[in-house]
Amino acid sequence: MKIVHSPQAMTAWSLRLRREGVTVGFVPTMGALHDGHRALIRAARLRCDALVVSIFVNPTQFGPTEDLAKYPRALANDRRLCREEGVDLCFEPSVQAMYPDGFQTVVTVPAIARRWEGEVRPRHFSGVATVVTKLFGMLRPDLALFGRKDYQQAALVRRLVEDLNLGVEIVVRPTVREKDGLAMSSRNVYLSPEQRIIAVTLYRSLQAGAEAIRKGTTDVEAVQALMATRVRQEPDLTVEYLAVCDPITLEPLSSVASHAILLGAVRLGSVRLLDNFVVPAPRKRK
Ligand code: PAF
Repeated sequence: MKIVHSPQAMTAWSLRLRREGVTVGFVPTMGALHDGHRALIRAARLRCDALVVSIFVNPTQFGPTEDLAKYPRALANDRRLCREEGVDLCFEPSVQAMYPDGFQTVVTVPAIARRWEGEVRPRHFSGVATVVTKLFGMLRPDLALFGRKDYQQAALVRRLVEDLNLGVEIVVRPTVREKDGLAMSSRNVYLSPEQRIIAVTLYRSLQAGAEAIRKGTTDVEAVQALMATRVRQEPDLTVEYLAVCDPITLEPLSSVASHAILLGAVRLGSVRLLDNFVVPAPRKRK
């Protein structure tokens, strides 16, 4: 596996392959790779000839009081996982290489970024949109894979690619879960053993909301109240948002008439947990 640090070398490699008709697949990451990333890499491997994984803890998507300094870093393990999964190139740029002196352009996707994560983490999505645009510019991939776990991020990237005609196929893969249902996340390492047990409550609450819709409930407030009641059964959890939204625009729905996405974020001590659940249209009552 090739390891590349320089954006210019990255672009040269990718352009050469694409000129030869090789399909380039891309999995962008911030490292601390887990089985969720492994599943993305495996899915990418099946779809492309040359596979690139980037490992870059992007400072611009962290707020001033967030966990940038302590974000888990595990480069040796990450490289091992990439080798095991047949990744061709690991792109590991430095902060200086990504944001050299004089850097000033910021990409924003205002409507999709306005609510939910965007409200709790005001600069987060402009950081994500900017770094993803830069990575796509450096790599020129044919396709890029994202996890559904970060549903709002995936929706934002789709919008961005369409709006800016970036010509990258965006593939969104299902969330990979622990046995009890907890969504895999690099930040799960912050959970104490006691918190780890409680953490699955968010998933179960979303599941309960989805089940109510599946059984025919169309009343959004009732679904939100049900999910909130479930979360509040664990006094250590604080709800940040639990919402029933349009799966494309992420705007809140007033009633569930067709497909919906349930989005949730809770705080457990200093750890934020995110999850979501895609629900098909409710069954029509006869
Ligand atoms: O999902 C992530 O790990 C990051 O937000 C991404 C897409 C790699 C951009 O830094």
